[in-house]
Amino acid sequence: MNKLLEVEGLKTEFKRAGGNVMAVAGLDFHINSGEVLGLVGESGCGKSVTSLSIMRLLKGTPGQNAGGHVKFEGKDLLRLSENEMRKVRGKELAMIFQEPMTSLNPVLRIGKQIEEPIRLHLGFNKAKAREHAVHMLQLVGIPRASEVMNDYPHQLSGGMRQRVMIAMAMSCHPKLLIADEPTTALDVTIQAQILDLMKRLKEERSMGMLLITHDLGVVAEMCDRVVVMYAGRVVEEAPVKELFANPQHPYTQGLIRSVPKLRQKVKRLESIPGNVPDLSHMPQGCKFAPRCAHVMPECMTTEPELLAVGGEGRKSRCWLTQQSEQKGGSAV
Ligand SMILES: Nc1ncnc2c1ncn2[C@@H]1O[C@H](COP(=O)(O)OP(=O)(O)OP(=O)(O)O)[C@@H](O)[C@H]1O
Ligand SMILES: [Mg+2]
Repeated sequence: MNKLLEVEGLKTEFKRAGGNVMAVAGLDFHINSGEVLGLVGESGCGKSVTSLSIMRLLKGTPGQNAGGHVKFEGKDLLRLSENEMRKVRGKELAMIFQEPMTSLNPVLRIGKQIEEPIRLHLGFNKAKAREHAVHMLQLVGIPRASEVMNDYPHQLSGGMRQRVMIAMAMSCHPKLLIADEPTTALDVTIQAQILDLMKRLKEERSMGMLLITHDLGVVAEMCDRVVVMYAGRVVEEAPVKELFANPQHPYTQGLIRSVPKLRQKVKRLESIPGNVPDLSHMPQGCKFAPRCAHVMPECMTTEPELLAVGGEGRKSRCWLTQQSEQKGGSAV
């Protein structure tokens, strides 16, 4: 399988008064073409910062790249000029943001917002761009698409705005779509419709996808592989079925245990005790050690590396899983 996106040692830091903090601290993962990679982890672990770093959209925030590579079809996006990056962004690499209202321009009609990138990237004239925009709105299930072209974002419901975002993101046939919590703000039935739609479009066009979510149900439904993030690092990577059947990292085990199971009588949900560490006061060793039920002395002093463990395509950043792997036993 060919690698569409390779993220290697990606670091993003934020300037803060008391000293810079590293929100993304050396991230490694890849996405093959046509594959959906899930990126999961608790709030604040660096998922959105990762996507903004890949898209090079940190300008206007106190964040900046502090190292690493983001190779898209072998070309390092972090080394492109702003002009070259603009040609890639929105065309080959598109993004759906966590909150559609922040990325739709409130004073521009929907039609104009969709047509602009189509004209820019596909070189269509006004009439052809309009026709393509209407087609895209119809494709994402927007009724009366040609009328909606004349609406302003505030005239649409949250679900409709999210569909518009998807139509915009898909309009230039991207090879990779980054979707940051694309359905979190929507109610459950709309959420299911939007996910179905994304799945269908992805299959029809064999597009790669980075799906960011903290909903493990969505992960199970949509993803081929999963990367689990904690405190700006990858702590586990696995094919989706293996991740749920046999999570290796104690953090992943905690995440999975904290999901309610429909058919089981759950008396009490187990949440992971403690909180994600403050970026300016990171523990010295494993960043999860202060919350981990299996903590050992070395966990407090030395951070483990992300290493292959327990089967094909699986990695874990944990002393315990790595030790037990060496002994040939099963993990925690
Ligand atoms: N504009 C910013 N200025 C300063 N710090 C920021 C900024 N954006 C993000 N951060 C910090 O970077 C860290 C990661 O934030 P990020 O938004 O990537 O989390 P997330 O995993 O997407 O969380 P959520 O699930 O809530 O969306 C947080 O500690 C956050 O405080
Ligand atoms: Mg986020």
